[in-house]
Amino acid sequence: MTAAFPDNRPDLADLLAFYASVGVDEALEEQPVNRFADAAPRPAERTQPPLPDNVPPGRSTSVSRAEADDRANAARVASAPSARATVPDEAQAALARQLAATATTLDELRQRMAAFDGCNLKATAKNLVFADGNPEAAIMLVGEAPGRDEDIEGLPFVGRSGRLLDRMLAAIGLDRTSVYIANAIPWRPPGNRTPTPHETEICRPFIERQVELVNPKVLVNLGGPSAKTLLNTSEGILRLRGNWRVHTTASGVAIPAMPTLHPAYLLRAPAHKKLAWRDFLEVQAKLRALG
Ligand code: URA
Repeated sequence: MTAAFPDNRPDLADLLAFYASVGVDEALEEQPVNRFADAAPRPAERTQPPLPDNVPPGRSTSVSRAEADDRANAARVASAPSARATVPDEAQAALARQLAATATTLDELRQRMAAFDGCNLKATAKNLVFADGNPEAAIMLVGEAPGRDEDIEGLPFVGRSGRLLDRMLAAIGLDRTSVYIANAIPWRPPGNRTPTPHETEICRPFIERQVELVNPKVLVNLGGPSAKTLLNTSEGILRLRGNWRVHTTASGVAIPAMPTLHPAYLLRAPAHKKLAWRDFLEVQAKLRALG
């Protein structure tokens, strides 16, 4: 890596290696932006607010000065043009619930999600990753959140784990024309970090409504976060998988749901593929039984 930086800047190579190791693996914009400079001006640029008049001469003013600095900085940050990220709050979660509940079609839901600015994740994502496949399908699969490839293409499961998912589906005679695929979180978390509970909560009404509008005969939860979001459980996926659960929609429709292992996990733990294979056979049998 260092050899690629012949201009005596091995420190830059190290910095890039560090970024890559924590998942910062692509540029968001053409030009670099120094967010630290935006948030806190350098000391030389600070304008000191006047000190209180009642400080006697010769008395230490350090506390008053520090407090004045803090107040000035807080005011400056508060009045700075807002960054693109928004702070998730209950109002945004309530808005998400209302927008989702009143969307009457998948198209309307997609448009509302595309216009919704209440989730931080949208600020750093390239695309809304709404769904792929056939909305008329008897089976709907729900993953966790888009990764890098999905973010670029705006489609779920198009990267490495998506290719494994396609092979798993093919093994039970299905493909993307006969399944519908979405994610619990529709925007890529930066660096593929785990979505925060608040982000998950804000996105939950959207995926719940998506399931309700598709109204599949069978739901498959790919991985723990999908199962936790849609099956009202805090159990781990290794305990949950392989056992039928029920997802109940807001209007009270009960949909059989099979939690199983996430393809990305199977890529890391191939010995567990046999467990997922069993779960997929269960799903195949259920689909046959339901006609
Ligand atoms: N992992 C997921 O959970 N969803 C995707 O779309 C891709 C990878």
